[in-house]
Amino acid sequence: MVRSEVYNRSMAEGKISAFSMMGKPEPLFDLWEHTMMVLGGVEYSDNTNIAVWDVDKGHSLTLTTESFNMHQVAPDTLTYNRPWKPPGADEIPLFSAAHFSRHPTSGKSYNYVAKLKWKLWGPEARFDFYEYSSSPGGQITDRKVGSIPTALDDIRIIHAFSITENYLVIPRWNYKFDFTFDLSMMKKLAYMCEAFKFEYNKPTYVDIINIKTGIRVQFTLPIQKGVHGMNSFERINSQGQLEIVMDFPTLTDPTALDLNKHCLFDIFNIPILTDPNYLYENIPWDTTLRRFIFNMHTSAHTIEDFPQSWRTKDSAIEFPFINPNYNGKDYCFAYFQQWHFRTEDMDLMKYDLCTKKAITWHEDNKHVSEPVFVPKPGGEAEDDGVIVAQVYDSATEKSELCVWNAKKLELIARYDNKVQVPYTVHGSWYDE
Ligand SMILES: [Fe+2]
Repeated sequence: MVRSEVYNRSMAEGKISAFSMMGKPEPLFDLWEHTMMVLGGVEYSDNTNIAVWDVDKGHSLTLTTESFNMHQVAPDTLTYNRPWKPPGADEIPLFSAAHFSRHPTSGKSYNYVAKLKWKLWGPEARFDFYEYSSSPGGQITDRKVGSIPTALDDIRIIHAFSITENYLVIPRWNYKFDFTFDLSMMKKLAYMCEAFKFEYNKPTYVDIINIKTGIRVQFTLPIQKGVHGMNSFERINSQGQLEIVMDFPTLTDPTALDLNKHCLFDIFNIPILTDPNYLYENIPWDTTLRRFIFNMHTSAHTIEDFPQSWRTKDSAIEFPFINPNYNGKDYCFAYFQQWHFRTEDMDLMKYDLCTKKAITWHEDNKHVSEPVFVPKPGGEAEDDGVIVAQVYDSATEKSELCVWNAKKLELIARYDNKVQVPYTVHGSWYDE
């Protein structure tokens, strides 16, 4: 737990401080708390899921959230240091990607800030992408890489994007931040699901930005629903043309789940989680692993579906993880959490994109969170290594850290976590 100044102050005052979130907490915070958490920024916000980002090679940890703020924390003690990079006076930052991207060879990190920028004629909306690197003294520096301008009434939420040697690959699925300048604005900023809409009447966009020049090429696709990408890489086709490949787990039928009726983040609300049928009946999530191929020479694109060679087919196949040494390169193996909403099974799945075959690890009552691939030092094959994941046992209400060999998903070690970690989805791994 990172104990920020806000946390310490809140605990001293015997209260919980609110944080802008997608789903609705129970009980709801009152209007004053909402107002303060939206207007007060980091001085009033706390209690949030964080992504840990080693942007400056161990000098400090940078924590990102769904909000625009990044926070610095001492890596050994987790002592809160400071928020980082306040916005310009003429800007209102809205949000960033929850997942930063790391360049496959330079190790530099990339993220964006979605912002409203004030112009003489009123606000304009855009995504500004930055490259973050550290100086020898541990200071973070940033360089603006490029921008995606967007209409005020069509600000998409980009949860994650990928990166190749020379390009940022940015899918703008149709999740929309429905921002309006009226009395509902505060509520929308406070409970983001109030502003989280799915735009069924507009296309999906994929923008590809050259990291060196900032030049952007936009592709327009039929509606897709994806969340976390598997990988992207560059290749030359048989005509000698540059293609960018982007792989994503997507909803097989993007119209099957009406996200304007259901807030996806409500699936973690306790009353919904304790209803054995709610998710299966209301959140039809049948996954297709989908390859999007963008021809940078002709500006045409093609979409190829990998066969659903797993059981149970109507599962949410999500939270992909690959061998990090293959980020931005052609690859074969991706590891997933396989979540079946009828049984609440959360299994571990490996998909071989080269042979198009899947294998799954399952134990009754076990719920595997996002699998993390840790490469074997000196290993040669892409799947030389282990999978590490936190596993919750709903029969005993205990949790363990499990380790599998990545080739066959054979369990090779399990460790008592000593603490109870309820079932969850995301996971991370950091070398010492
Ligand atoms: Fe995520």
